[in-house]
Amino acid sequence: MDKFVVHGGKKLSGEISISGAKNASLALMPASLLASGISILENTPELNDVYTMMKLLNHLGVESTFQNHTLKLNTNNITSLEAPYEHVKKMRASVYVLGPLLAKFGFAKVSLPGGCAWGPRPINLHIEGFKKMGAQIELEEGYIIAKSKRLKGAKITFDVSSVGATGNILMASVLAKGTTIINNAAMEPEISNLIEFLVKMGAKINGLGTSTLEIEGVEELKSDRIITIPDRIEAGTLLIAAAITRGKISLLNMPSKYLYSVLTKLEDSGCKILISNDIIHLDGVNNGINSSNITTAIYPGFPTDMQAQWTAYMAVANGVSTVTDTIYLDRFKHVPELVRLGANITVNENSAVIKGVNKLTGAKVMSTDLRASASLVLAGLAAEGVTEVLRVYHLDRGYQRIEEKLSMLGADIKRVEGKEF
Ligand code: EPU
Repeated sequence: MDKFVVHGGKKLSGEISISGAKNASLALMPASLLASGISILENTPELNDVYTMMKLLNHLGVESTFQNHTLKLNTNNITSLEAPYEHVKKMRASVYVLGPLLAKFGFAKVSLPGGCAWGPRPINLHIEGFKKMGAQIELEEGYIIAKSKRLKGAKITFDVSSVGATGNILMASVLAKGTTIINNAAMEPEISNLIEFLVKMGAKINGLGTSTLEIEGVEELKSDRIITIPDRIEAGTLLIAAAITRGKISLLNMPSKYLYSVLTKLEDSGCKILISNDIIHLDGVNNGINSSNITTAIYPGFPTDMQAQWTAYMAVANGVSTVTDTIYLDRFKHVPELVRLGANITVNENSAVIKGVNKLTGAKVMSTDLRASASLVLAGLAAEGVTEVLRVYHLDRGYQRIEEKLSMLGADIKRVEGKEF
């Protein structure tokens, strides 16, 4: 359990490349199970959630090699159809193996993911979808046991737009008999990346980038290769790191279309944004940091995965702002820790009211989950004095060595290794 020691007050400057998207990789990797052969996933980020998914796939019999961000997955010799608790408890996205295993092998036993650090995260939509496709599903001793001969196409309308349920049903439907229609499908870019991969493997999918997907099942898919899209949340986090320190940075290989809502809000807060090809330039040098409200929404709205970081940013804005999370109503574990740094924030139901303060002051703070930890690092970069962010294993789950990227941009941040933090 390492910690970060951050000496705040350094303005960030320079340019940095954005890594592949965690949440794209976590869907692309299990999709490889749908074919026998070697899938090649380029631009895969080196972060712990990817290693966790790799271990789970290895447990199923997948052989993997991972070099220079190229992940090769050989699915020729699947030996187990079970995702045990030890793997799933580490990462909820493990449930993504359910759809591919069920579709390809007619059986899957996957541990039910439990609660999450910030509250309930149900998977009822995944299960209802599989049932509609003809699967028999039982819950036994904490496991989902799913069986089916060949899944059949179905009309599925999600009550709420869900990234995970869309990905899982999509992966199941590509090998089903007949046509599946998914209404109110998630439109997140990571789902489009998954669709792109499935189509390369031979799947027939219409509706890329829209909320209605029509999938005509095929008999068989073949392994292929795909380039993982850049991580829009890593990009957004680094942009706020520059904005909160009144710095000036450029993000390389980051298409601005994935970040439209965040860029607009950064402009509202006073930053200058310039886009050229796939480079995003942010200039916050003369930024007085205007307060700016956000409400999270499904893509292309403001991402819930940027909510904690925005809250840290608004903690030092001029005036009062409101941050409302409509996707995860309880995702405010970062607030008490930000308050320890001097922020003035109160939470009422799913909204935080943030009264901007002139300065934050360094302190020891505790990470509780991935994006909460990111917000504490951002606050530490802006705070006067030294901030210690404990339990950075949460950050390592989803950011590829963020301290190195921040250091390259001029931040004073060091990882201290140790068991006691
Ligand atoms: N929901 C249900 N029933 C379901 C599934 C979801 O009610 O069966 C609800 C959830 O409670 C939530 C909403 O639907 O209110 C959206 O949840 P979604 O299923 O889209 O979330 P997810 O697939 O579990 C992914 C990302 C999360 C990200 C959310 C929302 C991955 C691996 N994870 O989770 O990423 O917050 O979408 O965009 O793709 C992160 O990277 O820090 C992270 C948590």
